[in-house]
Amino acid sequence: MLVTGGAGYIGSVTTDLLIGRGDRVVVIDDLSRGKMENVHDDAVFVQADIGDRGVVEAIVDEYDPDAVIHFAGYIAVGESVRNPGSYLDRNVARSTMFLDSLIRHDVSNVVFSSSAAVYGQPKMVPIDENEDKQPTSPYGWTKWAFEQILGFYEVAHGTRHVALRYFNAAGASERRVERHDPETHLIPNILESASGGKTVSVFGTDYPTPDGTAIRDYVHVVDLADAHLRAVDYLVDGGASIAMNLGSGVGFSVMEVIETVRRVTAREVPVEYADRRAGDPPELVADPSLARRVLDWEANQSDLENIVRSSWEIRPA
Ligand SMILES: NC(=O)c1ccc[n+]([C@@H]2O[C@H](COP(=O)([O-])OP(=O)(O)OC[C@H]3O[C@@H](n4cnc5c(N)ncnc54)[C@H](O)[C@@H]3O)[C@@H](O)[C@H]2O)c1
Repeated sequence: MLVTGGAGYIGSVTTDLLIGRGDRVVVIDDLSRGKMENVHDDAVFVQADIGDRGVVEAIVDEYDPDAVIHFAGYIAVGESVRNPGSYLDRNVARSTMFLDSLIRHDVSNVVFSSSAAVYGQPKMVPIDENEDKQPTSPYGWTKWAFEQILGFYEVAHGTRHVALRYFNAAGASERRVERHDPETHLIPNILESASGGKTVSVFGTDYPTPDGTAIRDYVHVVDLADAHLRAVDYLVDGGASIAMNLGSGVGFSVMEVIETVRRVTAREVPVEYADRRAGDPPELVADPSLARRVLDWEANQSDLENIVRSSWEIRPA
């Protein structure tokens, strides 16, 4: 198994699960955003850019992986608005070069980290996979573009893929906690605030939701990782290319998440209220029934209290 971005948050937890079930794993990560310490000791680690054809082809040649899980990329919506070029470069251009390296060596099963950001402002909630794809950020556009590129490569080269559209990844495994740099995600920022750090900004209090704050679907990172193992098996068993949502199917408002953190940690969480951020929809909640049906997947660990508790218990000192 070849895992790109395996030194990052979701890639490292998935690598742990793959190794736990006995798979041989090679991780490629350039450490632009990930950390070496996140890579399982039993994985082969290559520090390289996914666009480096010489390195990728040498790895594929040597290890002959039956599938690839492609996590590597940049992930911050706001940064993609400020610097779209680096998102097009990482998430589309280098990812396409990576695909070219794979097809030259007949690697034809690709599981891809897509995102709920492909939907932009959905017309219907919960969101199913047929919702219009109208991303509202360069980041979301790169994910939608690469899904389509995978489709072109299937027609031209027979590459089959599963695009997994994650909603909000959250929570910690026994070994790893979410720690992006910069951290733009809500739950780690609220937990940092509970540890005595900064005030949490709540963007928008006038959304058409019960408490006026935005509603999101949080899915536990271990549930996400588990879905990747199932997606790999599905492709290796000959499954057809498909895109699927990965979410819990339940939404929580920003204030509900803050209240859950206050309850679980028994700490203060100072809050300041700010205007809505451009492009932030009121409510993003998945309809995860396709993944349930096709992968027999359940978001068993994605209860919000469990997400918060798992992250709080292993937070860095
Ligand atoms: N975290 C979420 O809530 C979420 C939601 C939807 C989709 N996703 C997608 O899931 C994937 C993983 O997200 P994450 O939260 O683990 O992010 P992360 O930043 O923790 O991990 C991404 C990893 O990719 C590596 N990387 C980036 N560009 C690279 C390149 N050109 N070559 C080699 N390595 C490179 C980084 O060093 C990092 O270790 C991303 O593609 C992201 O867009 C994440």
